[in-house]
Amino acid sequence: ITGALVGASGAILSYIMCKAMNRSLGNVLFGSLNKEATTAQAAVTEEREVQRAAAEDAAFFMSQADEVVIVPGYGMAVAGAQHALKEMTDKLKEAGCNVRYAIHPVAGRMPGHMNVLLAEANVSYEEVFELEEINSDFKNTDVVFVIGANDITNPAAKTDEASPIYGMPILEVADAKQVYFVKRSMAAGYAEVQNELFFTSNTQMLFGDAKEVCEAIVKSL
Ligand code: TAP
Repeated sequence: ITGALVGASGAILSYIMCKAMNRSLGNVLFGSLNKEATTAQAAVTEEREVQRAAAEDAAFFMSQADEVVIVPGYGMAVAGAQHALKEMTDKLKEAGCNVRYAIHPVAGRMPGHMNVLLAEANVSYEEVFELEEINSDFKNTDVVFVIGANDITNPAAKTDEASPIYGMPILEVADAKQVYFVKRSMAAGYAEVQNELFFTSNTQMLFGDAKEVCEAIVKSL
């Protein structure tokens, strides 16, 4: 009975994951075998300029904002940044910001990955919104703080038919007035696709480990 329950749960989770990625199970399991290694290299050898921000600038700008949305991804899990992030959002709330979290169904590496980490850091469920609940609100958002996420914000999923993430719904963070991307480098994410959002005029890169960046912002706040 236990085996059947585990098997059924796994099948349901796989179905949810494939649906959220708009890919078949076969494509998820074996899709990377035939992939050309050009996109990841493109990200590494990227020569275009991006706008960089310091933690102090982000702290100041966010503390002046009314609406802040946090978009966590795999990098938050890698860095174990959820507690420092919670501390940062508590400080922002003290400064008068309305802070919410936007969760993509395939953020991280397993269904519910981000929800579990945020719950562990005692983030209130009421502040956590699923993609379809919050996606239309980005245009009324002052600052989006993308922490360790990449593919789930990538507009190539809508525009580039050749992209491995084509057809996957994305969080429309580009609609916000200002976007901060916290990551360590210009490296691509899981799908190995460059993210054109890094080069837009309302994006600033906060390069560094997610936990260290949050701690620096907390210190500044
Ligand atoms: P990704 O697109 O993989 O991006 C994660 C980003 O985090 C990377 O670009 C990386 O950039 C950054 N990062 C890694 N370590 C970091 C650290 N210590 N500090 C700061 N940043 C760090 O993740 P996502 O946006 O969450 O998207 C999930 C991806 O996984 C999707 O493509 C999805 O299809 C796939 N996937 C999801 C699941 C489920 S069910 N969740 C299952 C299988 C596959 P740097 O290296 O530059 O830091």
